Amino acid sequence: MQKVLLNWLYKIKQLDYNQTNMTELKNKQWIYSKRPEKLVDDSHYTLIEKTLKLSDLKPGLALIKSEYFSIDPYMRIQQSGKETWEEPHPLNTVQGGAVIGQIVEINDPESDLKKGDWVLSYTGWQEFAITETNSLRKLNPKEVPVSTALGILGMPARIAYFGLIEAGKPKKDETVVVSGASGAVGQVVVQIAKIKGCRVIGIAGSDEKTTFLKDTLGVDETINYKKYPSIRQMKNKLSKVCPEGVDIYFDNVGGYITDAIFEVINVHARIIICGQISQYSGGLDNPELGPRFLHKMLYKRATIQGVLSRDYNYRMDEMLKEMTPWVKDKSIKYKETIVEGFENLPKALNMLFYGENMGKLIVKV
Ligand SMILES: NC(=O)c1ccc[n+]([C@@H]2O[C@H](COP(=O)([O-])OP(=O)(O)OC[C@H]3O[C@@H](n4cnc5c(N)ncnc54)[C@H](OP(=O)(O)O)[C@@H]3O)[C@@H](O)[C@H]2O)c1
Repeated sequence: MQKVLLNWLYKIKQLDYNQTNMTELKNKQWIYSKRPEKLVDDSHYTLIEKTLKLSDLKPGLALIKSEYFSIDPYMRIQQSGKETWEEPHPLNTVQGGAVIGQIVEINDPESDLKKGDWVLSYTGWQEFAITETNSLRKLNPKEVPVSTALGILGMPARIAYFGLIEAGKPKKDETVVVSGASGAVGQVVVQIAKIKGCRVIGIAGSDEKTTFLKDTLGVDETINYKKYPSIRQMKNKLSKVCPEGVDIYFDNVGGYITDAIFEVINVHARIIICGQISQYSGGLDNPELGPRFLHKMLYKRATIQGVLSRDYNYRMDEMLKEMTPWVKDKSIKYKETIVEGFENLPKALNMLFYGENMGKLIVKV
């Protein structure tokens, strides 16, 4: 019954677009308008409404109606005034980001895409977008929910998968510690590490998150880092839960948690720097000075490697081939935090820095 109703609603939606002979649309956009110095919030964004003309739908383009927006920590990195892996996000432009939407209109007879198809695009925080058909990835809603293309089968999973496997080279019975373990990236890393036969310790910021890690994702030990707020306390706790030391540290957060890890690494440990979220809200422009523990890397002949998801774009199919069956048969589980409402996009970005999400954070219109 629910399915029939949904199909019916979907058809009504389609009729709206198809039968009104529309020549233009009102398009709300969130403009990134002010550079944050500390935490980002809605004062750094301006909501505007623009007219989108269908005459702009030139050959090779499609009109997309946005349905799910990806909210990612890299958005705050791009707001840093200093050089990162790319130019800072330009001010007074639509906030960039991955979006899942449906094709409303298409002007590309050569394409295998058609009206109504679900697609992944990088069209940012706007209700509608006109974009090149060859930049779109077609999604199959019958196989897995389309929102998974933003998280468990999307960019965060790609870096979790290749970061752990290629940089971490996990071996059976090794000890793997993951910070930010209940987030979009972390929840994938801990489960792949378990599949590879490792002993896994997940670090997260609340008891609800550590319970999820242990009871649902099957990690061996957890640490609620808020109960161990200094390097010394964290080091003592890590020594307790990792009596045989740490072979792989998958870092999503940086700061004092990462400082403490240097104290407990094993010979030939691999430290993977995926993210440093504790530093994003100000620390990228004015870096915090921390203890200098690199001598521990020397004693342990350890390696440290930064990893970037986009470096593995060309291997996306390889990741999906392995991960999709795991997601479908639930050998990999996942959580998403879905915030409703286009108007809540900037507020949702801010949630990442208060730990208010579990799993992938998504805004649904
Ligand atoms: N290298 C790449 O290509 C790549 C790709 C995707 C993501 N990343 C990075 O991976 C990390 C996780 O990204 P994600 O998308 O999976 O986000 P996420 O983990 O789903 O969400 C962010 C989480 O970070 C934690 N956090 C926030 N401030 C913190 C602090 N000061 N100290 C410790 N933890 C803090 C919060 O969880 P708690 O409640 O546990 O504090 C929050 O829920 C980020 O650093 C991100 O930049 C890198």
